[in-house]
Amino acid sequence: MMVLCSIALTRVGFQFSTTSRKCLCKTRNLSASIKLSRMLSDSNSTVDKKEVDHHNKLKDEWWDPTGKMKGLHAMNALRVPFIKNGLANSGAISADAVKTRESLKGLKILDVGCGGGLLSEPLSMIGADVTGLEPSAELINIAISHAAQNSVTKNIRYISCTIEDHIKDHAEVYDAVVASEVVEHVVNPELFIKSCVTALKPGGSIFVTTLNKTYLSWLCGIIIAENVLNIVPKGTHSYDKFIPPHQLQQMLEKNHCRTVQTVGTFYNVLTNSWSIVPYKGFCYALHAVKSTA
Ligand SMILES: C[S@@+](CC[C@H](N)C(=O)[O-])C[C@H]1O[C@@H](n2cnc3c(N)ncnc32)[C@H](O)[C@@H]1O
Repeated sequence: MMVLCSIALTRVGFQFSTTSRKCLCKTRNLSASIKLSRMLSDSNSTVDKKEVDHHNKLKDEWWDPTGKMKGLHAMNALRVPFIKNGLANSGAISADAVKTRESLKGLKILDVGCGGGLLSEPLSMIGADVTGLEPSAELINIAISHAAQNSVTKNIRYISCTIEDHIKDHAEVYDAVVASEVVEHVVNPELFIKSCVTALKPGGSIFVTTLNKTYLSWLCGIIIAENVLNIVPKGTHSYDKFIPPHQLQQMLEKNHCRTVQTVGTFYNVLTNSWSIVPYKGFCYALHAVKSTA
């Protein structure tokens, strides 16, 4: 089977004339859709074209902290420390390193379903060597251009690829795999989790943030967020794809990962901020560690 990964560009600094840029965009769009249809024709793909098309439409406001992605921007204040502290708890970094500016230095992190790079960038800014994977080539281009404008973003490479393809030549490579707000968008979540775990080194950590499958997550995550307050684009979530923590934990256990922490997370619309809460019925963040045996 063809390996469809295309390593995009790292730390881009090219300048194009307007005309050549337009031509390049058309060519990129064409090759992006060819690449996407190849990903979809692979029976082992977890990618749903409707999901990718939906997220593509948001590309122009991906990096706008006041736009439709503002909840994800705000989530960095919760998920970056969750990842950092989780890595300290599992011994991947020392307790002293957590307090330093480059706390994740030396760690290879895979950000699966990275979109336009909202989480990849801050992880790289605290020292991690980050690979962002995203099935949408258009979003990867957004991520590349944004990283190129950020002088403190180091050590990021973005690849337009599925995790299922990536692991064909990247098994047991990463110290941590992050899938933040992605698992609720995939088809075949079991295969998705298995593939993410395959990319992890033994003893490595996987971090997942997602929505629980409850009346509350349906009410707040779909009805209120998408239809009443309009803070999340309509059609972003589908209740059928939500996964309760115990099911995610079982999928991880099947793949030799022990869940070490699950916390409830809550988004306050009025303050545009996320917090860790005792109740896991709305959203949650989970950290599991792959066995070394
Ligand atoms: C809500 S966005 C989250 C983006 C990013 N993880 C963040 O939190 O900033 C969901 C992303 O998952 C991607 N996605 C959808 N299906 C996927 C799959 N099967 N594998 C990897 N990524 C996928 C979408 O294209 C989209 O960029």
